[in-house]
Amino acid sequence: MNVTQKIIAAHLVSGEMVAGGEIGLRIDQTLTQDATGTMAYLQFEAMGVDRVRTDLSVSYVDHNTLQMGFRNSDDHRFLRTVAQKYGVVFSPPGTGICHQLHLENFAKPGATLVGSDSHTPTAGGIGSLAMGAGGLSVALAMAGEPYFIAMPKVIKVQLEGKLTGWASAKDVILHLLGLLTVKGGVGKVFEYAGPGVATLSVPERAVITNMGAELGATTSLFPSDDKTRQFLAAMGREADWKELVADAGAAYDDVIVIDLSKLEPLAAQPHMPDRVVSVRELAGKKVDQVAIGSCTNSSYADMKSVAGLFGAAKVCPETDTLISPGSKQVLKMLAREGLVEPLLDAGARLLECSCGPCIGMGGSPVSAGVSVRTFNRNFEGRSGTKDADVYLVSPLTAAMVAIRGEFTDPATWGEAPAVPELPADVPSIRDLFIFPPADGSGVEVLRGPNIVPLEKFDGFGDSVTAQVLLKAGDDITTDHIMPAGAQITALRSNVPAISEHVFSRVDEGFVARAKACDNGIIVAGENYGQGSSREHAALAPRHLGVRAVIAKSLARIHRANLVNFGILPLILEDKADYDRFALGGKVTVPVAAVTAGGSVEITLEGAGSVAVKNDLTQKELDIIRAGGLLNYVRLSKTGAA
Ligand code: F3S
Repeated sequence: MNVTQKIIAAHLVSGEMVAGGEIGLRIDQTLTQDATGTMAYLQFEAMGVDRVRTDLSVSYVDHNTLQMGFRNSDDHRFLRTVAQKYGVVFSPPGTGICHQLHLENFAKPGATLVGSDSHTPTAGGIGSLAMGAGGLSVALAMAGEPYFIAMPKVIKVQLEGKLTGWASAKDVILHLLGLLTVKGGVGKVFEYAGPGVATLSVPERAVITNMGAELGATTSLFPSDDKTRQFLAAMGREADWKELVADAGAAYDDVIVIDLSKLEPLAAQPHMPDRVVSVRELAGKKVDQVAIGSCTNSSYADMKSVAGLFGAAKVCPETDTLISPGSKQVLKMLAREGLVEPLLDAGARLLECSCGPCIGMGGSPVSAGVSVRTFNRNFEGRSGTKDADVYLVSPLTAAMVAIRGEFTDPATWGEAPAVPELPADVPSIRDLFIFPPADGSGVEVLRGPNIVPLEKFDGFGDSVTAQVLLKAGDDITTDHIMPAGAQITALRSNVPAISEHVFSRVDEGFVARAKACDNGIIVAGENYGQGSSREHAALAPRHLGVRAVIAKSLARIHRANLVNFGILPLILEDKADYDRFALGGKVTVPVAAVTAGGSVEITLEGAGSVAVKNDLTQKELDIIRAGGLLNYVRLSKTGAA
C-alpha cells in the first residue's frame, strides 16, 4: 500500500477503497478557525452531544483578529467559552495561524484531521491525512461521526535531486500548479515520494502540501521519516512520531516526476495561482508592496532567511513591506536570535502572528498597485484592492523584490543563503493554549448579541401543505439565494438576522411573503443552487419556513445542503409542469408516500396534481424526515428528538 491507503485503511468505517466510491473515515483530530468556527460550534451545540469525541479538537482565532466593533471580540469570547464547555483546545487571537500552530503543536503522522479551512492539508507535511471541509462536517466529526469522501485517486509525485540556488519549496508547488492547473487535483491525493523527500524539512514539506489545496486536491501528504522525527523532537513531541512510508512496489493511479535540481524561482501571476512564470521573465516590473507570511510561508526558516537577506540591506522606500510570523514560537525564536532588529531596521513592518493581509485584515495594496506575496491565493479583489495585481512567490524571492523595489533576474542576486535549520532547543508556547477542564458541564457559554443558538427545526409529519413563495428561473446561484458582502457575512452566526437578506438582491418581497405563511415552497428551473457551497443558502430559507424545493434540476452541493437542513429536494418528472405552479398557490406534498428514489404525485390547490421524483438515499430521506442532519444526529446520539 501507499501511505494514503495505509492511513485510510486504518480509519475506514464504511465503503471500499475503490477510487470514486464513497468511504467513511474515523476522524482523530479537528481544527476550526474563527471565521468558520462560530457556526461549526453552534451546529455542534445543536447536536446535543456533551463533549467532543475526537482525540483532539482545536479552535484557532487567526482570521478576524482586528477589533473593529464588538462582533469579533464577541466571537472570540464565544469560541473560548464554548471550547471550555465541550472539551476543545482554544488558541487565542495573536498566538498564530491555525495551520502553522497545528503543525508545530498537534499534528501527528498517520492521524486523520478535518478542518473548517481549505488549507488544512498543511498538516500533510508531517504525514497526517488532513482535509478541508465545511463547518457542518467538522461539527459532525467532533460529535464522533465519520467523515465521508469519495475514495481519491493517489498520485505519486516522485521527487528527484535536491533544490539548488534560490529555488525553494514554494517553487516546487508553483511548478506543479503551472503543470496541472487549479483543476488538476480534483478527486486526488498527491503523495510525495522519491529521494528528494529526504532533502526537505517538515516546514518545507508543509509549504508544498498547504498549496496543494490550490490544485483542488482532496489533500497532499509526505511520508513520515527521520526528518519528521527530527522536527517532532525539536518541538518536544518525539513521542508523537511513528514511521509511515509506502510499501516497496506500492501502486499509484499516476506518477509525476519532478527534478528538484532543475527548479528556479517562480511566480504565479494575477489572478490565479496556476498562472506560473519564472521570476526571471518578470524582471523590471515595479512593485508597490511585499507581504511575507500566511499559512503557506511563515515558518521559522522562512522568516530567518528573510531576516538574513534584510540584515545586509534596506527595503526599497517605495515598497511597503509587511511581515507576519506564523506563530509566537517563530517570533520568539527570531527575537532570541536577534533577528527582529534586522527586520525592523530594514524598514519592514512587523504585523501580528495571524492571517492578516492574506484575508484582507489590513495591508490592502495601493490602487492599481502591484503586490508580491508569499501567500497561496491571488484572486482578484481578495487583497481588498479590487484593481491590484497580486503575484505569489517564495519568501526568498519576496525579500529580494522588497530590497530592489522591483522584480529582478535571480542571476543578479548573488549566492543563495542555506535553508536555516531548526535549533535543538525550540521554545515551547504550549502554555498559551487554553486547555479545557476535564468536566466542562459547569461552564457558561458567553454569547454576544450576534451569536444566536441554532433553532431546532421540526421534522415532517405525513404530509405538508405549503405556499409557493417564489418561481425562480434557471441557474439561480447560492449568491442569489443568500447574498455575501461584509455586512451580511458578519451575521453568519445569527440566522434570524441573516435570513432577512434571503433573495434580497433579486426579490425584495420574498422574506415578507415567507413570514406571512407557515410553510413555503420554492419552485425553480434548471440547476438551482449552483455556485459556492454556502450552507446559509439552505439554512436561512429553512428558518423562513421553506420545506421543499421543486426544480427542473438541482446543483449537487446545494442539494446536499438542502438535505442537511431538512428541506425536501424534489425534481419535476415533466419539466413542462413548471408552468402549472402559481406564485402564492398552495401545494400539498404527501411526505409519508415519498420513497428513496421514487416518484409521487403532489397536489396543486385547484390545479390537479403533478408528478415529482427524487434522487435521495434512504438515509437522506430519514435525515429530512427528522428535520435535518443536526436533529438526526441528536436522535442517534442521545435518543431525544
Ligand atoms: Fe489564513 Fe490565508 Fe491561510 S486566511 S489560514 S493565512 S490562506
